[in-house]
Amino acid sequence: MYVCVCNGVTDHDIRQAAAAGCRSVAELTMRTGAGACCGTCLDSAAETLELARDDASAKSVLPLLSQAA
Ligand code: FES
Repeated sequence: MYVCVCNGVTDHDIRQAAAAGCRSVAELTMRTGAGACCGTCLDSAAETLELARDDASAKSVLPLLSQAA
C-alpha cells in the first residue's frame, strides 16, 4: 500500500527502513523521501514506522525468550 503518494513510498519500504535501523520520521524522510513534498502522509508514515519498529523489536526479543524457557 502506498503511504506517500508524492514519492511512491509503500508500507513495505517503511518496514524495510525500520528493519535497517530507521528510528524517526526525519530519518525515514531522508532514507525514503516520505513526507518530503506535501507532508500529508507524515502521520500515516509515523504510525507505520512505529508499528514496524515494534514488530522488529518483538522479533529480536522472542528468540531470547524461547531460549530462556
Ligand atoms: S504524500 Fe507524502 S509528501 Fe505528499
